[in-house]
Amino acid sequence: MRDPKQKNTPFFTKLKEYGNSRVAPFDVPGHKLGRIENDMQKYVGKKLYLLDANSPVGLDHLNYPTGVINEAQGLMAEAMSADRSYFLTNGTTTGILAMVMSVCKANDKIILPRNVHKSVINGLILSGAMPIFIKPNIDELVGIANDVSFDIVKKAIDDNPDAKAIFLINPTYFGVVSDIKRITDYAHTHNLVVMVDEAHGAQFYFSHRLPLGAMEAGADISATSMHKTAGSLTQSSVILTKGERIDHQRLRATLNMLQSTSPSSLLMASLDVARKTMYFEGKTRVTNILKLAKIAREKLKTIPGISVIDKDYLLNQGCFDYDETKLMVKVSDLGLSGFDVYQMMKKNYNIQLELAESHMILCVLTIGTTKQDLERLVIAFRKLSEKYFKSRDKLPKIEFRYQFPEPYARPRDAYHAPKNLVKLEDAVDEISAESIMIYPPGIPIIIPGEVITEDVVKDIKFYKEKGGALQSDIDNDTDIDYVQIVDKENWIKYEGDLI
Ligand SMILES: Cc1ncc(COP(=O)(O)O)c(C=O)c1O
Repeated sequence: MRDPKQKNTPFFTKLKEYGNSRVAPFDVPGHKLGRIENDMQKYVGKKLYLLDANSPVGLDHLNYPTGVINEAQGLMAEAMSADRSYFLTNGTTTGILAMVMSVCKANDKIILPRNVHKSVINGLILSGAMPIFIKPNIDELVGIANDVSFDIVKKAIDDNPDAKAIFLINPTYFGVVSDIKRITDYAHTHNLVVMVDEAHGAQFYFSHRLPLGAMEAGADISATSMHKTAGSLTQSSVILTKGERIDHQRLRATLNMLQSTSPSSLLMASLDVARKTMYFEGKTRVTNILKLAKIAREKLKTIPGISVIDKDYLLNQGCFDYDETKLMVKVSDLGLSGFDVYQMMKKNYNIQLELAESHMILCVLTIGTTKQDLERLVIAFRKLSEKYFKSRDKLPKIEFRYQFPEPYARPRDAYHAPKNLVKLEDAVDEISAESIMIYPPGIPIIIPGEVITEDVVKDIKFYKEKGGALQSDIDNDTDIDYVQIVDKENWIKYEGDLI
């Protein structure tokens, strides 16, 4: 039974009313609801600017919402099986920082898989929490990190009775999910707070054909990118909470520390309307996209040199479950790397893929994906196969090492330590003072406090050569010939450091 209340879009409705009210605006923003003509205003029209207001009377305040934002958040929570929701205008990145910082104080232990997004590492730096990393399951053939097994999580929980929280990913960038319900139930028997990164999982709440959302599985808090898979504008996300374990005052205070005092009304309105569409149309449209994806997969499987990494394959590898709105294609048997295909698809066929890894590429499908777009994708793969299959040797198997470097200090301590900048090859056996990752997916190869090994150096060089977009969180040097290491001679290691 659909709840007719969900037809309401309290924030969007009030915002439209305000924009059309012929108000004389003596507040910010300075474009005064589109009264300054510029190239963008002429291109998109005045209407967009009419929706860009900054907390005028009647439109509520994101920092302490009591009016239409509060109502819109309530509807979002109900639609997503949560007790409460908080709108975010700086993506799930801010949501993750706020979750970690509000749940963990300095030195609190948090159990988490090593293949987390960089925002989680930054959350550790900001909070001072102590990570207890667990190994995700690795698929060496495809070259990706997947879910975490219940038994490994259970052991980490049993070995760390003083841990405060556990952090899960639902799903990974590639669509793999862990047994989040079983893990949550076990974690709760040990009184751990369960927090979840659902940057790629907003769609789960709107279709029973997809894996469980974190709230449905009983987790305490999750950060969910509505913008990635549920149709709202880029950077609009939500925090969802359930139950009594979350201190809402502390969460609110942390969010107010991290978020702008001028949150974008456009983004908040887009959350309001995306929720309504997903609530009423999500179920049917997700079913439809899954059907289209199935047809595309079947066609792709007939193309020489192309393999589809599908649910059957992943379940055979021992993964718990898979989100079939993600489409993973292994391309290395064409003699091309995923990075080559990523570039060729855009250059030759005007097809923009989500990301590439050494052996594969990833497409993200949503209720906005069309049959025609999927047909174009299949045709492009056929053409690539005609051109490259057999004309090139198979891509030599790239040795896939999933980095699990040894921790030496808390990320926060290494971040604050005195540093030296050294050439990558001179950094072996040193302690990293920065995170280096390939983006996307933004999973760090090394984080502050970990010991740099020869394999770490090799991987960074490999990605640099192959054209992955390497990023460093500290010096932002895209060349990454150098790395910041802890200056051990002048470093007074924090006494409370448990490692
Ligand atoms: C696994 C994961 N978590 C968190 C994020 C951050 O989400 P957002 O882009 O909404 O800030 C991303 C972004 O790519 C991600 O892939």
